[in-house]
Amino acid sequence: LFQAFCPGKKDMTAELVNVMEFQELAKKVLPKMYYDYFSGGAEDEHTLRENVEAFRRITFQPRILIDVSKVNLSSTILGYNISAPIIIAPTGMLKLAHPEGEVATARAAALCNTIMVMSSSSTCTIEEVASSCDAIRFFQLYVYRRRDVSYQLVQRAERYGFKAIVLTADTPRLGRRERDIKNKMVPPNLKILEGLLSVELDPEEEGSKLENFAAKTLDPSLNWKDVEWLKSITNLPILIKGVLTAEDARKAVEVGVAGIIVSNHGARQLDYVPASISVLEEVTVVEAVKGEVPVLLDGGIRRGTDVFKALALGAQAVLIGRPMVYGLAAKGEYGVTRVIEMLRDELELTMALTGCGSLKDITRSHVRTERDGL
Ligand code: FNR
Repeated sequence: LFQAFCPGKKDMTAELVNVMEFQELAKKVLPKMYYDYFSGGAEDEHTLRENVEAFRRITFQPRILIDVSKVNLSSTILGYNISAPIIIAPTGMLKLAHPEGEVATARAAALCNTIMVMSSSSTCTIEEVASSCDAIRFFQLYVYRRRDVSYQLVQRAERYGFKAIVLTADTPRLGRRERDIKNKMVPPNLKILEGLLSVELDPEEEGSKLENFAAKTLDPSLNWKDVEWLKSITNLPILIKGVLTAEDARKAVEVGVAGIIVSNHGARQLDYVPASISVLEEVTVVEAVKGEVPVLLDGGIRRGTDVFKALALGAQAVLIGRPMVYGLAAKGEYGVTRVIEMLRDELELTMALTGCGSLKDITRSHVRTERDGL
């Protein structure tokens, strides 16, 4: 596959055997300011570490002597068939990782037969991404003070064949990301907003220009009633991203969303919220949610074993943010493809070694968590 992308060249990623090694390569190839933007989290980065560490504390209870000569990873989300329950999380500003940005990511999603959630903070336009390939695409929405801008984005997404709207609900303001503040991070041209929204940023203003941009544009008054507004302007199913409590999961079901994404925004918003995997069980056991709408999870997925653990605790699928970005930074579309394939292969092996021939065989009793008194 590599030769199809880069004929005659040596594959620098051939020797990389896991996502963490892609991260190391990304750190080498990216300017510090951009690597910090992608990899960093809010304040003390406690939740950032915890998102990964909480997975490490979950162990397996494998079953033996089960025929796993065939292991089937294929999955569906909102009725769309995908090759494995691993989809691409919305991450902004992907041209800072690779010149082809969101288009390269969409193409990788198409190659891997999975879903890409395109960010509202994209450096490519909706039209560019839609016309680049036939990947199944969802659109992540930020609601702006200028509601007409969000309205336009939703209309375009719908017109260009996006299949769902993912409403990010944990960002009334941007979290305090100290790496960006120190680096005086400046947002690149968000081409997706061209002709819709332009903001004058004062060059004299200190700190992260990203924070200033967000403060000027994002609508902090966004509330549950606005989900009705969103429903009134689109026929697409709506997923809510950023749910961390049973209470909010129940509210989301009550307002009629098509799915819930348990997420702490990759630990970039409020520091000291629990790891998303730590709250997943609480959210999924709520009667109101169980079975009524799919529950997805993101945050800290770095291994196929992590994907398995999330599924065992009730997620229908997971989203990957940084792992995709590291693949993109390392080798564009091909790098993203490698990362997804790696996680897929690791999940397949985990299923074989736990005695699960298909996703529906994965149960709560295949994992042990702190709740089990361990
Ligand atoms: C994000 N995330 C994010 N979420 C969102 O709803 N809209 C966005 O524009 C962005 N942008 C963004 C940029 C970068 C660089 C990162 C790392 C993350 C959050 C993202 O969708 C997801 O919740 C996390 O990335 C999941 O955690 P991991 O997989 O990065 O650990």
